[in-house]
Amino acid sequence: MKVVHTVRELRDQLRGQQRVAFVPTMGNLHAAHLSLMKLARQHGDPVVASIFVNRLQFGPNEDFDRYPRTLAADIAKLERERDVYVLFAPDEHEMYPEPQSYKVQPPDDLGSILEGEFRPGFFTGVCTVVAKLFACVQPRVAVFGKKDYQQLMVVRSMCRQLQLPVEILAHETVRDPDGLALSSRNRFLSVVERAEAPRLHRLLLRVCEAVRAGAVDGTALEARARADLTANGWEVDYVSLRRQRDLNPPVSGEIAAGEPLVVLAAAKLGHTRLIDNLEV
Ligand code: PAF
Repeated sequence: MKVVHTVRELRDQLRGQQRVAFVPTMGNLHAAHLSLMKLARQHGDPVVASIFVNRLQFGPNEDFDRYPRTLAADIAKLERERDVYVLFAPDEHEMYPEPQSYKVQPPDDLGSILEGEFRPGFFTGVCTVVAKLFACVQPRVAVFGKKDYQQLMVVRSMCRQLQLPVEILAHETVRDPDGLALSSRNRFLSVVERAEAPRLHRLLLRVCEAVRAGAVDGTALEARARADLTANGWEVDYVSLRRQRDLNPPVSGEIAAGEPLVVLAAAKLGHTRLIDNLEV
């Protein structure tokens, strides 16, 4: 695997390649990232991964400074798996050599709900860096995990509207055996919090099962899940049943009519904010 830190080196490595499959990450790689790389490998050649902790997508009170940076260990994992041909690991000056005054802003309907409501500016930061990474790597396909469900939808709509010639592939959420979705932030959980954390997934499962069993009052299901989390020490941002197609709440009758839904949640356990979702 070639590790490059500049756009120039990256372009030199990829000159003439038409079928690049790309996996953007913020590093601290775990099993879920490695399976994104495997999926990329099935859909293109060569596979390029990036590791860049993007300041632009973190709010002022978020965990940018303590976000784990483990480049040497990440490189060792990628070398072991042998799926990635080039790793692009730019520093901040390489990605943002001047203040980033041109930004890619997601539309209000998708960008300001759910994560966008609780993390203002988050999707502008994501879209801006993903568009820049796409410009650097020029992939034919790019792989994103479904754990960040709304991010996946935002990136897809950005590519559609900006007519970026990149096909976006979705990878299923990878979970620990007890159901907790893998995330770099899990490492911040104390032993007690780690034991509590799978509740989030269990409650999402319960909402899905209730909908499948014929429940039509989404608001009551959300409220019950929220109350259960709160009673167990979580600080809940949202638990919300939405339509898969646009992440809007289902309107009257849609749940009963079998509209494809997804239940999404974000909540803090101690200082660690976890997100998860399940398609119904
Ligand atoms: O999902 C992530 O790790 C990040 O949001 C991404 C897509 C790499 C952009 O910084």
